[in-house]
Amino acid sequence: TVPTPQWRPVYHFTPAKNWTNDPNGLINLDGVYHLYYQHNPFENKWGHMSWGHATSTDLVNWKHLPVAIPEIETKDTTTWIFSGSAVLDQHNSSGFGKNGTAPIVAIYTADQPKQQKESQFIAYSNDGGLTYTNYANNPVVDIHKKDFRDPSVIWLEDQHKWLMTVAVPAEHKVQFYGSVNLKDWQLLSEFGPQGDARKIWECPSLTPLYVDANPAKKKWLLMVSSGNQDAATGMQYFTGDFDGKTFTNDHTPETQLFVDYGKTFYAAIPYNHLPANRQMMIGWLMPFETATWPWRGQMSIPRDLQLKTTPAGTRLFQQPAAVLNSYLEKLPAVKKRQQHNVSLNSQALPISNSRQFNTNANWIDATFTLGTASDFGVKVAQHSKGSGVVVGYNVQRQELYINDGKDTRHMSVQPVNGKIRLQVLLDKSSLEVFVNDGEKVMTTLIFPAKDATGCAVFAENGGVKLNTLKVWN
Ligand code: FRU
Repeated sequence: TVPTPQWRPVYHFTPAKNWTNDPNGLINLDGVYHLYYQHNPFENKWGHMSWGHATSTDLVNWKHLPVAIPEIETKDTTTWIFSGSAVLDQHNSSGFGKNGTAPIVAIYTADQPKQQKESQFIAYSNDGGLTYTNYANNPVVDIHKKDFRDPSVIWLEDQHKWLMTVAVPAEHKVQFYGSVNLKDWQLLSEFGPQGDARKIWECPSLTPLYVDANPAKKKWLLMVSSGNQDAATGMQYFTGDFDGKTFTNDHTPETQLFVDYGKTFYAAIPYNHLPANRQMMIGWLMPFETATWPWRGQMSIPRDLQLKTTPAGTRLFQQPAAVLNSYLEKLPAVKKRQQHNVSLNSQALPISNSRQFNTNANWIDATFTLGTASDFGVKVAQHSKGSGVVVGYNVQRQELYINDGKDTRHMSVQPVNGKIRLQVLLDKSSLEVFVNDGEKVMTTLIFPAKDATGCAVFAENGGVKLNTLKVWN
């Protein structure tokens, strides 16, 4: 209970107070981004699970709203509102609409600890998503299991039906269900175990995307979270085809592809109801190691999703949401810095020598051309005594690494045309690193001392060319 304002992110979402985990029911309605989230309204730790609620128009400034779906307490049953999704039921297929206005329907997991049971519930909103009424005939999907959760629902326009992707965690499986009214669901098929099945599977989602932005090449992205709390990596993905019933993996069942190579990025789900051909997700950054107060847990930067063809096959690329660019553009000139064609030779070039950039809330975009240097990259949260966090690229090993002074994590990345681009989003206690236009991403949490705010680009054991450096504070 020691306040930790120095670790409160300024451009990532945190609840005003108390605990959050997974983002839930991400939906865009008339240009307003709704973010529901797993929330304990009473304490700064997991429990009393409810759907907290916030909205934003720029994905940076969030308006805190009252809890949208609270836990349900009856004489014999406690029902916790676990993760799920929200849809706009434009054709009023559910019949929950009122006075010709389309209802918003939330599909979530009812976790009933006393009964050791999880099943899928629905609830509807007739006031734009502020409050929800639980459907009288819940559950809508029940397979009589203790672990069965995290329904992700999308509308399949060509089939004119709803599709639910939901996890059977202990079996490392997802199930697909179809419905025409959000109330009656039919099992379509199952997928898994495949890929990484070391840990339970949670928070799945299935998303259609064009490969290389080509409308003639449609693929489906299946994302699954696995390894809550003790994972090497939190989220994996598959790419493949979906015929309205069955998902077919493009890759061999053994192939493992990861959404993020840090261990904090978890439970990400895509937004529903975005403008055509845009896909964007938000994930949770798991705060298990260090306590913050009076809140705990934060969301990732919203990330645009793309599939691209690479020499290794179809891959997921992530970028900080393009919507955020207009926010960066609007920042005053003293909060921006740009340099081009700088030679770095076994040296560090400070970014934080001007006080504006000395806040541990920088967005850094740097492109380097490899030279003789063995390592280069960005140093953040540096203390004058020399400690800090290094985001580096090692040329010989072809690896991007983050070294926070305690731990080093790395991932392999190849230069593209002899270049490495690093987008480093540093926000007080979170660090998201997108490499080569988001071909790979590594996210971590850091907890720097108050006076550890130094920031620099660097090259070691030789030279590199810094083609461009852009920094926003
Ligand atoms: C993932 C998760 C979900 C579940 C929720 C409960 O972090 O375990 O599977 O719905 O959190 O808060």
